[in-house]
Amino acid sequence: MGGGGDMKWQKDAADQNFDYMFKLLIIGNSSVGKTSFLFRYADDSFTSAFVSTVGIDFKVKTVFRHDKRVKLQIWDTAGQERYRTITTAYYRGAMGFILMYDITNEESFNSVQDWVTQIKTYSWDNAQVILVGNKCDMEEERVVSAERGRQLAEQLGVEFYETSAKENINVKTVFERLVDIICDKMSESLDSEPAMLAGGGRGQRLTEQPQGNSNPNCNC
Ligand code: GTP
Ligand code: MG
Repeated sequence: MGGGGDMKWQKDAADQNFDYMFKLLIIGNSSVGKTSFLFRYADDSFTSAFVSTVGIDFKVKTVFRHDKRVKLQIWDTAGQERYRTITTAYYRGAMGFILMYDITNEESFNSVQDWVTQIKTYSWDNAQVILVGNKCDMEEERVVSAERGRQLAEQLGVEFYETSAKENINVKTVFERLVDIICDKMSESLDSEPAMLAGGGRGQRLTEQPQGNSNPNCNC
């Protein structure tokens, strides 16, 4: 890491002015718009040039939710297969995932299940996920209907939004929703901890999700 990176870390480490720190990851196929989404959110900028991410990068943003200062460390992963070993190493410790496909790209939608498998394999069991169909400004090129996105999200037991990094549609909403879901999950875990210690791990909200309990390997 270069000098600039080190300085950034020092500055971040010195800034203790927050109540919580959440580590979030944006994942999905190459070119779905992960980097654009993060730039829109963190810098309110957009460029139509495509510079495919090499490995992994991150940005920090502090938000206020429910009187709390939440510092978000948002990791932007490369979608290209060849970086998979690097990127999956960062899944551990992530509290939330934005799983993105491109509504004009069928293949990116078909890959969503594979990305879910990656999350299940490499992340914490109670990491929270939001499914995002990006590029909703490109209505004429759309090949994945919003309904298919909704249905898939329901099957997976996650929330769903269509977004546009270009037109700034739902970008902030997705991050705020993810922060809220993580906060809810945290307070639930605290509430249900005595029961969990006693071996009765139910009481987790996932029982409300359609298929939350169908997979014995899934503790999410
Ligand atoms: P990798 O880094 O290779 O994994 O790709 P990525 O998912 O980070 O994609 P990136 O953000 O670089 O965007 C790919 C291309 O899609 C770029 O040319 C962007 O300008 C374009 N793009 C991203 N988001 C949108 C969007 O919401 N609408 C439109 N029309 N184009 C977008
Ligand atoms: Mg990128």
